[in-house]
Formats: sequence, C-alpha cells, structure tokens
Amino acid sequence: MEILSKNLFPSLVWTAIFDDHDDLDRELYSLANRMRANDPEGVANTNVKGWQSPNIIQLLPEFGEFNKRILEVARNIGESQNYEKDLEYHHEAWININPPGAHNQNHIHPNCHLSGVYYVKVFPDCGGIFFRDPRMMSLMLKPPITQATQFMATEVRMRPEAGRIFVFPAWLEHGVETNMGNEERISIAFNVRVAKKRAKNSPAGAGPGPQQQTRSASGV
Ligand SMILES: [Fe+2]
Repeated sequence: MEILSKNLFPSLVWTAIFDDHDDLDRELYSLANRMRANDPEGVANTNVKGWQSPNIIQLLPEFGEFNKRILEVARNIGESQNYEKDLEYHHEAWININPPGAHNQNHIHPNCHLSGVYYVKVFPDCGGIFFRDPRMMSLMLKPPITQATQFMATEVRMRPEAGRIFVFPAWLEHGVETNMGNEERISIAFNVRVAKKRAKNSPAGAGPGPQQQTRSASGV
C-alpha cells in the first residue's frame, strides 16, 4: 500500500538575489549611515538595541533603484499567486541597523499583504531571520519526533546574505536573532499592500496610497 501526502495550505517564503547588488549595497550602506547620523534616535518598534529609520524609504528619491526592485519583486510574487493583473502595488520601507547584541522581537505586519527584508550588510553570527509556524492549532499535542520535517517544524531559520531578499505573507510571524558578532548588521524591511486602481475621477483618499497606509508593526 502506498500512502501519499497532499500539501495543503503551505506558508511560502520567496527569496532572490538582486543582480549587481554590490554597487547597490555600497550605496544603501552609505545612505543608511547618513540617515542615522541625521536622526540618531530613530524609531522604537520591534528593534531591541538596534536603530530603525522612520517608514519613509519609499518617499526618498535616493532610494529609487531599491524601491523599484522591491515593487518588481512584489508584483512578480503577486502575479505568481493570481493577484489581479491591474492592481496597484504600494510599499513602505525602513532601515534596520542592528549593532552587536541587538535583535528584533517576534512580530507580524498587520494591514499588509506581503512583507520582506533585503540584506545590505551581513556577516557570520550577525543574526538570522526566523519564521514561526502559523498553524496554532497544531500546537495542541505534538508527537515525539527524532527530527523535524517541513510538516512538523515549529520554527524555521534562514541565513541572511548580502544582496538577498526574503518576501513572505505579512501574517507569518517572524523575528531576528541576536547579533552575536562585532559589527553592525544592516537591512531594509518593507511592507506591500495591493489595491484596485482608483477611478480617474474618484475623490482623493478613496483608495489606499503609501501615505494612507496604516502604520504597521515593523521589524526586520
Ligand atoms: Fe518584520
């Protein structure tokens, strides 16, 4: 007798490496440090000991290339999941600088469709991203196992790499491990929300735009 398994309701994390990311990363590294120098306090959110910028990267022309790539990835992912083709994609993004000892608490990103993170500067022991099993009901009684499978895992860790982007459903709980190294880890996190295109004559404010997005819990 052959027993078959069917994969129902999977949780997807999409990943890619940006082409020519070395030049982009150098530019983003410089911009990130300049922003922190101009606003040393930053924003307090899920970051513990780390510096976080306001969610304004999407509005800044100097981040134009980065913003363009984020939206391109998001649209590709959306269309791979049969989002309607003529939707508007809006995003907001912010910089995270995690010095040694910093981490980001577990969180989700409410009121968004996709979330993600792009790594500008990483190194061994800088802290990986981890995702937690969203199937709460599966926690009621776990059988003893010798090794986690994809189905049995309750937490999955992924190693960051410069130039790599991770995108995931905004409801997927995640966090960032403590930076155990001696350098600063720099990433740019983002949220994406899609909306039907606004009719030309509709009043301003009829549909969501970047400035109208509900501020969401932001972390990695
Ligand atoms: Fe996050």
